[in-house]
Amino acid sequence: MAKSDQFVFPGSRASVSWNSRLCIHIGECGRAKGNLFITGRKPWCQPDLVSDSEVEEVVLRCPSGALSVQNADGSRPEKAAAENTVTVAQNGPLYVRGELQIEGAPENAPGLMFRAALCRCGRSANKPFCDNSHEKAGFLDSGAVGETGPGAVTSGGPLQVKPSKDGPLLFKGNLVIQSGNGRRAWSGSQVALCRCGGSENKPFCDGSHKKNGFTGD
Ligand code: SF4
Ligand code: FES
Repeated sequence: MAKSDQFVFPGSRASVSWNSRLCIHIGECGRAKGNLFITGRKPWCQPDLVSDSEVEEVVLRCPSGALSVQNADGSRPEKAAAENTVTVAQNGPLYVRGELQIEGAPENAPGLMFRAALCRCGRSANKPFCDNSHEKAGFLDSGAVGETGPGAVTSGGPLQVKPSKDGPLLFKGNLVIQSGNGRRAWSGSQVALCRCGGSENKPFCDGSHKKNGFTGD
């Protein structure tokens, strides 16, 4: 991911960064009430017009990790969510939140330490991240989750995410999987989730990637 993907909106107390390759135009920022983001204004994002807590609250709404916030002293106010969650979006990506360690994550996208939208249709040109290709591809899946998992003692702590070569996303660490309607469906500490779009047991991998020619590059 080139450095030029990252745009910084400076403020005297905090700066907001936006990574254009990770943004999937969900609009949580642009639709937020208040003056931090105003569509069509130049610059679009002006951190000095709102309080520090509002900057942080609105940035944390971003589900893709495209937005991040940094204090003037270089520190980051964002803390990982107390539990790691994967939400299976209806006809869309896997939204992941928590203490994320995504293998191969670009350094110029610090929001990915806390939030990410991961491709599960198999069509993204920015794998393992979602780029909205599921819309053009007509990817259909309700986001239902059929299994309950082995359970986990807690749901926090580091969550490793490894996109396996031409295969599923491998998660290691305590996590909860939420179905598309928000139901807490599965808990455990190790799981392989489909990213080829072909599993008959979504969101879990069922080995279909070996037959459908999926490539993770
Ligand atoms: S909330 Fe994040 S993903 Fe959504 S439009 Fe804003 S920057 Fe893009
Ligand atoms: S990655 Fe889709 S079935 Fe394994």
